Amino acid sequence: MGDGDAAGPARPAFGPGAPAEAEAGEYLPFSDRPFRLRMGVRALDLDDWLEVDGHFDDDLALKQRLVAERPDEVVAAVDHPLARAAAEELWSLVAAASPRPCADPTVHPIARCALSTQEDWVVLADLGDGTPVLAAACVCFPTRWRLVEKVGLSNRAIHAPVAYYDEQLGDPVDGFLDRLSVERPVWRLNWNLVDDPSLFQPVRPSPSGPDAEVTADNVGERVWLRVERQTLRRLPVTGAIAFSIRIHQRPLASLAGRPDVLRRLDGAVRALPDETFRYKGLAAIGTQLEAWIAQALR
Ligand code: HEM
Repeated sequence: MGDGDAAGPARPAFGPGAPAEAEAGEYLPFSDRPFRLRMGVRALDLDDWLEVDGHFDDDLALKQRLVAERPDEVVAAVDHPLARAAAEELWSLVAAASPRPCADPTVHPIARCALSTQEDWVVLADLGDGTPVLAAACVCFPTRWRLVEKVGLSNRAIHAPVAYYDEQLGDPVDGFLDRLSVERPVWRLNWNLVDDPSLFQPVRPSPSGPDAEVTADNVGERVWLRVERQTLRRLPVTGAIAFSIRIHQRPLASLAGRPDVLRRLDGAVRALPDETFRYKGLAAIGTQLEAWIAQALR
């Protein structure tokens, strides 16, 4: 599904050549088609709701530290009984699915979700005015945004800084969220290129010019492809929407021997309008990246 037609037939969210990679669980979602923001939602098999890999222990230890030391930055909830109820409902599902659920009952249920999985968690609930808002969340691994700025906001307001979101995705996503059913959970992917592999990245990229430490020769080691795998499902009891974010990162060097993928990445970056290029923080690395890809393809 994509291009605003959430109910329509499956349409790949991936660029030419990508489906095989996607099936192998390797997320390379950039596309060199003409630019357009896409919903790119696909049916989710709930057996694949959570992803567990070799970073599980390290990721959970880092989250534990963040929740203990910087709770105001990573945990947020609207003070409303429905927000609490939605978080409790999500927790009951996450606790049953996690290989190691958090046993601390003193922690807010939404934080327990994040401390039990490599995913971060948001619940959106209609707290009375007819629009779902970010009611509770524990986000330890944000990609350059701050949770405190999003609490209590509608999905459209949350996305206000995203270039072209309002025009290209605002209505389709609102309609999609409205129609999201308990029986048809979905997943989707976002991608970014970052010059910092920290998982906790609440700082928006500065609009200044190129990062002097990234050169055409070291892009492979200094630039990471950061993909967010997100899932959305309607919770059956409270009717809230559960949204998960799971980060997958790899240095670009890991793609160096794959000309098809590099060509597609090059095409995807070149296809970005200026505003999107800036929003994604690519002014810091764009020129060096193009030169590095050209070298790798030689
Ligand atoms: C089908 C549903 C959704 C779509 C299609 C969507 C799409 C997007 C896109 C295209 C971006 C920009 C990514 C980039 O290029 O870097 C974005 C950013 C973001 N999304 Fe979503 N999104 C969806 C649902 C959600 C939900 C449910 C939440 C949480 C409540 C959320 C939270 C965010 C945040 C916090 C950002 C960063 C905004 C900023 O920079 O301030 N998204 N989303």
